[in-house]
Amino acid sequence: MYLLLKTSFKNRKNLIYLALSFVTLLGLTVANQLEMLTIGIVANAIDYTSTPVGSYLIKIKEKFLHGENQFLKIVTALMCVAIIKGIFLFFSRYVSRILCIKISRDLRQQYFNHIQQLSMNFFQKYNIGSLSTRLVNDSSQIAISINSWITNYLHTPFIVITTLSMCFYISWQLSFVIFLGVPLIICSIKVITKKVRKVTRIIQKNQEDFASVLIDFLAGIQTVKIFSMEKFIFGKYSEHNDKMEKLESKVSRYDLLTRPILHFVTTFSLVLILFVGLYILKMQLAELIVFCGLLHLFYEPIRKFAEENANVQKGVVAAERLFEILNIEPEIVDNISALPILSFNNSIVFNKVWFKYESKWILKDFTFTVNRGETVAIVGSTGSGKSTILQLIPRLYEVNEGSIIIDGRPICEYTQKSLRNLISYVPQKPFLFNDTIKSNIAYGQNLSDDAIYKAAQKAYAHEFIKDLPEGYESKIAEMGKNLSGGQQQRIAIARALAKNASIIILDEATSSLDTISEIKIKDSIENLHGEVTQIIVAHRLTTIESADKIIFIENGVKICEGTINQLIESCYQFREMWEASTLSQLH
Ligand SMILES: Nc1ncnc2c1ncn2[C@@H]1O[C@H](COP(=O)(O)OP(=O)(O)OP(=O)(O)O)[C@@H](O)[C@H]1O
Ligand SMILES: [Mg+2]
Repeated sequence: MYLLLKTSFKNRKNLIYLALSFVTLLGLTVANQLEMLTIGIVANAIDYTSTPVGSYLIKIKEKFLHGENQFLKIVTALMCVAIIKGIFLFFSRYVSRILCIKISRDLRQQYFNHIQQLSMNFFQKYNIGSLSTRLVNDSSQIAISINSWITNYLHTPFIVITTLSMCFYISWQLSFVIFLGVPLIICSIKVITKKVRKVTRIIQKNQEDFASVLIDFLAGIQTVKIFSMEKFIFGKYSEHNDKMEKLESKVSRYDLLTRPILHFVTTFSLVLILFVGLYILKMQLAELIVFCGLLHLFYEPIRKFAEENANVQKGVVAAERLFEILNIEPEIVDNISALPILSFNNSIVFNKVWFKYESKWILKDFTFTVNRGETVAIVGSTGSGKSTILQLIPRLYEVNEGSIIIDGRPICEYTQKSLRNLISYVPQKPFLFNDTIKSNIAYGQNLSDDAIYKAAQKAYAHEFIKDLPEGYESKIAEMGKNLSGGQQQRIAIARALAKNASIIILDEATSSLDTISEIKIKDSIENLHGEVTQIIVAHRLTTIESADKIIFIENGVKICEGTINQLIESCYQFREMWEASTLSQLH
């Protein structure tokens, strides 16, 4: 519960809405009780003769409604009370809804902002299904339960206390009758609360798995169809769906169980009040009407409390889950003394770098230097650690031992933002956003059309973009589904070139291209030689023929380093690879 409130009211502005909620609920409660009293007075006006002398109804009447036209005054009072109640009813509900909407917005914002700062390891641990359900479902669940919480924990005690005071004022003996049912209600609510919380935790976990199955299916639809795996996926989907149904039915059962209990307690109290009031205390009917009305007012919020409790409990679990993420500290943070790096002037040095993702060492004592303006290629068999080396440069992961030094300083002494600003990166699996080609190339930069066209021309992408019906304004479907693999790569290269950074990292950037396109891109990138520093990974060795330096890697260990001719001469592992690659090209 503490977490639920902590998450919701982190933004202090929301407390103002909470206070407003409180005030409007106060007004609503007073209006409710006034309504009951006026109804009592109306009943009393009809049956005035039998009212015992000294009754509170007569006292009120004598105090406020003396003189002529009493009935008219009573009716006017009733109307006024109804209008006031209507106004408070509207505002109390409106304010709490607005509060929910604001809390939901704040949470989504806070959550997104937080996960943006987390490192790559985090994104590996939590899958998309889990994170997106947390972001969308949990934050709205928290907001919904705050609405219920306002009714339960703010309104209920308040209404119970004020109504009870009124009841005691009318008849203290009769008020004790109301208390008889209270312990029964509290006990049942407590037991049910525990059960609801337990099942809700399982439901939310299941929801994550469910979302993951769906996301996997949608992202891998082509593989599903080719392997005719529709039945298999449907089985997985149904399994989670059925589980969801069972769990939701369970929560509904617990949720609804409070109703018969409360109904029984209320009816029992009503019968008892009528019996004691009429036969023992000999109260007048009008007084009993007011008392029963107040009894209704007393039990109504308690009934709601029990009903909405399931909602509050769901919110408590959602807040726990949200906090699980919000409490994760980013692994890679800027040092307090971190400086921005404004330009790249000298060199990138890998100094005895050791790195592991989990327990297995991926890079072992890796050392090499890339000087400004050079083109350096990293070559090695699949899984040897090439992409890993590239990802360490913009500090997507932190090295375990050794250091990466740019212009004489370890990269951890620079701010991450400035370091990444220096680098253009085409990853092995480029990602295109669901936006126009133009926005995908500019990606957040305020570039002129001319700059975008130039980048596209260098990446040999202009040729196919200009032939599209909407040209640069063509929308790229989710994950680039409406483009070929080579077209996607060319747009990713154009994006990297449009960034105009001093360091370009290309990880198998031209692997899906035909030889002619590859040569054209190679030529335009080679034109940048000397101007920008290039670090390239390519399986096709012809791509890296003209590199200033080639680093050959095997199982995370640097085997040799030099120009292509030096390596062919002195490094037999590289020679083998080179011969295999030239041989395959001849075939
Ligand atoms: N995010 C990750 N978490 C755990 N292990 C990883 C991760 N990424 C890569 N690895 C492992 O690290 C090793 C090196 O991977 P890397 O992607 O650097 O190889 P690579 O040389 O780029 O291979 P390829 O030529 O196939 O692209 C592999 O054994 C791989 O299984
Ligand atoms: Mg790779």
